[in-house]
Amino acid sequence: MSGRTDLHCHLLPALDDGPVDDAHAVALARALIADGVTTVAATPHRTTRLATPLPDLFARLDYLRALLAVNDVQLDVLSGSEVAVDALIDMDPAEIQALRLGGTGPLLVELPLGEAFGDPTWPIHQLLDAGTPVLIAHPERIPLIQQDPTLLQALVERGAHAQLTSGALIGRYGRTAQTCALGLLDAGLIDVIASDAHHHERRPPETSAALDWLATARPNVDGAALAVHTPAVLIPPQAPVA
Ligand SMILES: [Fe+2]
Repeated sequence: MSGRTDLHCHLLPALDDGPVDDAHAVALARALIADGVTTVAATPHRTTRLATPLPDLFARLDYLRALLAVNDVQLDVLSGSEVAVDALIDMDPAEIQALRLGGTGPLLVELPLGEAFGDPTWPIHQLLDAGTPVLIAHPERIPLIQQDPTLLQALVERGAHAQLTSGALIGRYGRTAQTCALGLLDAGLIDVIASDAHHHERRPPETSAALDWLATARPNVDGAALAVHTPAVLIPPQAPVA
């Protein structure tokens, strides 16, 4: 399988818990290519405490593209962020649009990885109501979704897409996340697999391994659709500048 588009990856150097420096970013980019990725969205965390000003974020993206070119790394890098759901509440609408994957794709949104009170999905419903496409990051790792998958189902029924993380399928995040991942796939709630890679060795791209595992665990699942076709379709081409 080739030509994979990875819609969730912490590739920008020295910005979040991704690569600590340029060398690590280049190493992660090479690991992505070795795993079959040709296009990747650089999705640093964006939270209430980590909100890099947009000009700085896009300057960092340009810097990474130049860094990869200088190092002869052939990888297309799209803009984006992984936006914590509570950060959405006070976010300017123009900022939300600027953070969509590749500028034209969905907004990658992360639900709380820890304990949550009530239903924290309401800002996502508001986004969907306003016509902004949404990609839910790794629902299989979210305790709230593990306990009540109907919260994800309600979002998907209103047009949201959901992204499994490759490592979760092969057990990197524990049995509960793995079981949840398969359950969400079986329920038809997942349409994208991405790496959520952070480091070329410690949290590497593992989508090839995940697809191999899935081919045995769920032979009926179309891995190419999850890892190649749908991720590409979710990023429409930019309109030509007049
Ligand atoms: Fe992530």
